[in-house]
Amino acid sequence: MPHVKDRSLAPMGRKRIEWATVRMPVLLGIREEYGRSKPLEGVRIAACLHVTTETANLVITLKEMGAEVRLCASNPLSTQDDVAASLVEDYGIDVFAVRGESEEEYYAHIRQCLAFKPHITMDDGGDLTVVAHTEGHYEGIWGGTEETTTGVKRLKEMEWKGVLKYPVIAVNDSKTKFLFDNRYGTGQSTVDGILRATNILIAGRVVVVAGYGWVGRGIAMRFRGMGARVIVTEIDPIKALEAVHDGYEVMPMAEAIKVANVVITATGEPDIVRGEHYEVARDGVILANAGHFDVEINKPALEGMAVQKREVRPNVVEYTLKDGRRIYLLCEGRLVNLCAAEGHPAEVMDLSFSNQALATLYIKENRTRLKPAVYTLPEAIDEAVAERKLQSMGIRIDEPSEAQLHRTWVQGT
Ligand code: ADE
Repeated sequence: MPHVKDRSLAPMGRKRIEWATVRMPVLLGIREEYGRSKPLEGVRIAACLHVTTETANLVITLKEMGAEVRLCASNPLSTQDDVAASLVEDYGIDVFAVRGESEEEYYAHIRQCLAFKPHITMDDGGDLTVVAHTEGHYEGIWGGTEETTTGVKRLKEMEWKGVLKYPVIAVNDSKTKFLFDNRYGTGQSTVDGILRATNILIAGRVVVVAGYGWVGRGIAMRFRGMGARVIVTEIDPIKALEAVHDGYEVMPMAEAIKVANVVITATGEPDIVRGEHYEVARDGVILANAGHFDVEINKPALEGMAVQKREVRPNVVEYTLKDGRRIYLLCEGRLVNLCAAEGHPAEVMDLSFSNQALATLYIKENRTRLKPAVYTLPEAIDEAVAERKLQSMGIRIDEPSEAQLHRTWVQGT
């Protein structure tokens, strides 16, 4: 039996899913193409993803391709309950996800997805894959896919330690994923989440972005575009140098937080904003996290230092320190773009989820050849996704000329 909050929410969920459908033309093309041949007939897929309108379109596509799908949430606060309801009621997909579910429920839902003995796991962050391994559900799994940077890091560690039991495709590492979803998707949806939560003016504010990976770059770029003064913090000297050359101020967090109006973490690492930073933070600073796990802003330290705590708006908690300074934490330190807003827009998830859909076919077709290791999709698939996206946008590009085709680099032109 699926587990969602309220099945009567389905009509709104359905309209919102359809709103996204028309903004995902590449995925829709895959749905139409393979909806006829049904290459995933008889394949069971367990998916642990943010339950959003875009994810709905992915799992509907997988079902159209012939698969049987179970879906659970990859974050307790990102589920859109109307979407979950519609998937169950209108599309006959077994969903196990309720926004605000406890940690116990979260893992119980993951186990429900593994209970139907999937051939393929589809993950965002690695929790499904890790539970499949630690609780011994990996027999019979042909392979898995992973959506995000943090999940890929966990998988690579498992591979390195020799404990990975089946092949996993790092969808995150396709160019048509990380260059677009991580950068433009998170850039925009993080602005969206912070604005929906706080309604602050960005122009003239000091915004500190911790981490200058693809996500951090996207966030910094978008806040600068809205008139913020953006400061970047980093531990990697090369990324820090890039940020300097991109025109940002770079300094340690202990300095940056003294002048920050907003701090956004996007590192994938723990303890980025911690007690020593709260000691010197500017009064009224807003803290938000855009990384996968809620470990980047040290919440226990903030709780320990606060003399008062109250919710001042939905998704905004005010902590008052001994000396009267106030610190505002958004979404309990969880992904602000999915908790206070709706995640990345459909147009960009079209790329990520087309890769996911094609990755399932790749696993099925190559299952006897692949070893328990982390793979990326072949470049030809990456390029095909980009070509289809350009086509859907009505954008044409040049063909290589004869001279370009016959050029040899050894002899020169
Ligand atoms: N990750 C970020 N944005 C997302 C979305 N809209 N749907 C699913 N996963 C996401």
